[in-house]
Amino acid sequence: MEKLFVVDFGSQYTLLIARRARELGVYAEIVPYYRLPSEPDSEVRGVVFSGSYASVSEGPPLPESWIGRLPALAICYSAQWIAAHYGGAVVEGAQREYGPAKLLIRAPSELLEGVPQASIVWMSHADTITALPTGAKAIASTENIPYAAYEWPEKKLLAVQFHPEVSHTDYGTRMLENFLRRICGFSDRWEPESLVDALVAELRQTMPEGQAVCALSGGVDSTVAAVLAHRAIGNRFHGFFVDTGLLRKGEREAVLKAYEAIGLPVTLIEAQELFLRTLKGVTDPEEKRHRIGHLFIEVFEKAARNLTDVRYLIQGTIYPDVVESGASVAPTIKSHHNVGGLPEKLPFQLVEPLRLFFKDEVRRLGEKLGISDTFLRRHPFPGPGLAVRIIGEVTPERLNTLREADACFIETLHESGWYERVWQAFAVFLPVSTVGVTGDNRAYGGVIALRAVLSTDGMTAEPSMLPYEVLLQAAQKILQQVPGITRVVYDLSSKPPATIEWE
Ligand code: XMP
Repeated sequence: MEKLFVVDFGSQYTLLIARRARELGVYAEIVPYYRLPSEPDSEVRGVVFSGSYASVSEGPPLPESWIGRLPALAICYSAQWIAAHYGGAVVEGAQREYGPAKLLIRAPSELLEGVPQASIVWMSHADTITALPTGAKAIASTENIPYAAYEWPEKKLLAVQFHPEVSHTDYGTRMLENFLRRICGFSDRWEPESLVDALVAELRQTMPEGQAVCALSGGVDSTVAAVLAHRAIGNRFHGFFVDTGLLRKGEREAVLKAYEAIGLPVTLIEAQELFLRTLKGVTDPEEKRHRIGHLFIEVFEKAARNLTDVRYLIQGTIYPDVVESGASVAPTIKSHHNVGGLPEKLPFQLVEPLRLFFKDEVRRLGEKLGISDTFLRRHPFPGPGLAVRIIGEVTPERLNTLREADACFIETLHESGWYERVWQAFAVFLPVSTVGVTGDNRAYGGVIALRAVLSTDGMTAEPSMLPYEVLLQAAQKILQQVPGITRVVYDLSSKPPATIEWE
């Protein structure tokens, strides 16, 4: 299968480059610079060298054995490194450019085909190329820098000092498409769903004998991973769904029904009492997470021990969780986002069929596997569940209050057609007393905060601009139907500086 390598030198945008390529139908893999094989194999049709947090004089070297071998697009740091290394010049820290800049085309090139003479690009660099190597030619400039883009045909190289992968670069997608289709000659149109059979076959090979277990959360990732594994190994697959008592209203029933509908064998573990007990008196959010994660492992391990010959643990880890990227070019596994960090504790071989897929690709695999659209479009839900949406101690009464209020909000979103238009929405219970009136009396009650955000991956988020009518409808429903709540507010914070969850 033809593919693109994105070599990561530690840019915050590396993941985005791979995403964009895949959106354009080209299969892309991210490889940290220190893991790059010495030679490209025959499946690699092109390479993108990423930007970096570092400056040319102190940053990692580019792999010279790869340069000139196959079409390459060097972005920012890499464009500068190549210029400096092959006889050009780079001045460090002379002129910091951050934000939009006007790109002006200076010479025709395949990379900028279809891009207007002047367009907006996104800059993020402190160093600047001041001279190009002999043989390289400037193809675009900005008001501040003469070599915003250059090409060097002899080295099969295109280089840009701006970021075509960022959506603020107006013709960035066009440039990437030019690079991939015209310059590298990618001809396949890669689609994640076409990989279902291959994934199933690979899983069958990975798990030739013995039993496999999987903890399902009701979320998209674990469900898709489980369905793939079940297809591969049939009744050697054993799914478990733990009712922690921290689930939303009707969630357990809905999830189990969905599993039944797709024929996935899942055993329910009832552990509500255990979770309530372990959370008694705990108010610190990290302590809550820790205790929940710990108990989750214990409960799951106990259930798995009832089976004999368990050898594999299926997990729905996805690409952004495993990829090595960012400033340190170090593993950035979101530990608190993996329920309890199961792998280290269990004596099973970890099997992660989705480790090379992005969230939207996982959804497409899910559709292909026959999982219903309603299920695949469900909002993300944190492993520790409602426990991190009750500020302070978790009690059965507070859980009930939050569950009802959350259901009122989500129902309103469904009725108004807004559920699909937000990335994640939920209610938070603030058990502070605020004054209200019921009948002729002053009554003190709790506060419900509503949160609805837009996001692509949960790393950053904006508050969703829900119409007032929808918010009012939700608030009225909550105030009428949820005893003990006298006030409803809407959270307008973005992430950063806030997080999506309140705890
Ligand atoms: P934050 O609150 O960190 O959330 O902005 C980003 C995304 O992650 C979810 N989240 C969690 N998921 N365990 C999980 O499995 C957790 O402890 C956890 N905390 C936050 C959150 O719902 C949002 O989608």
